[in-house]
Amino acid sequence: MSGPVLEAVAVSRTYRVDGVDVAALHAVNLSIDEGEFVAIVGPSGSGKSTLMHLFGCLDHPTSGFVRIAGRDVAALSAGELADLRNTHIGFVFQSFHLLARTSARDNVALPLVYRRVPRAERCRRATAALTLVGLEHRLGHRPGRLSGGEQQRVAIARALVTDPCVILADEPTGDLDGRTGHDVMDLLEHLNAERGVAVVLATHEPEIAGRAHRRVQLRDGRIEHDDGAGRKERAGRERG
Ligand SMILES: Nc1ncnc2c1ncn2[C@@H]1O[C@H](COP(=O)(O)OP(=O)(O)OP(=O)(O)O)[C@@H](O)[C@H]1O
Ligand SMILES: [Mg+2]
Repeated sequence: MSGPVLEAVAVSRTYRVDGVDVAALHAVNLSIDEGEFVAIVGPSGSGKSTLMHLFGCLDHPTSGFVRIAGRDVAALSAGELADLRNTHIGFVFQSFHLLARTSARDNVALPLVYRRVPRAERCRRATAALTLVGLEHRLGHRPGRLSGGEQQRVAIARALVTDPCVILADEPTGDLDGRTGHDVMDLLEHLNAERGVAVVLATHEPEIAGRAHRRVQLRDGRIEHDDGAGRKERAGRERG
């Protein structure tokens, strides 16, 4: 496959609160190619999580459309959408969203339950994903027995276990101290460089955003700046 893995085309999202419309995103156009490493930046309330949720098909635009691997999400049945999402996207939430009473390995294996992967295979793949994030010694630990950085690595392993082509990470370093946040970034960089997984992360931390290869700046639900805007035209001119 080549071309964009994710596209937002004229995407708006309006929330209705007590009869009043609150516009979280206004006509956003954004295209993310295979293998990119993109930071979505902007102040609190600028629409970062809203955009991530739309790309992750956890929410629907009020107008405009989202494409995953070239397919218009709105044109799919619920089953087709679940499959497309499950095969292409790994999502790391703003808070870790791990099941408290479940071991690290079973948390990571959960997306495979939805894909009806047999138990032994689930166990093998969850162990491999936890090994990749450096947690092979914590397989049986519940989230409450892990540090914040370890919990975030479990959440990344869960996003990885389905072998997605893109990882969406909403403030993956937000609840972590600086050092641990950088370890999580090292891991995302490694996955991007070595496995070709595209990474889109939302962050309000300039230092974290500085490590991405492209920055998209949101303000009041609009794209204020995009390092990648016009890059295809530039690449074309340089070649030509
Ligand atoms: N479920 C909701 N209902 C109503 N309004 C919402 C909802 N979710 C978000 N909003 C509003 O949409 C706007 C964008 O919110 P969003 O969560 O996308 O911001 P953000 O950039 O992720 O902020 P933060 O950095 O604090 O996580 C905000 O004004 C917010 O109040
Ligand atoms: Mg947010």
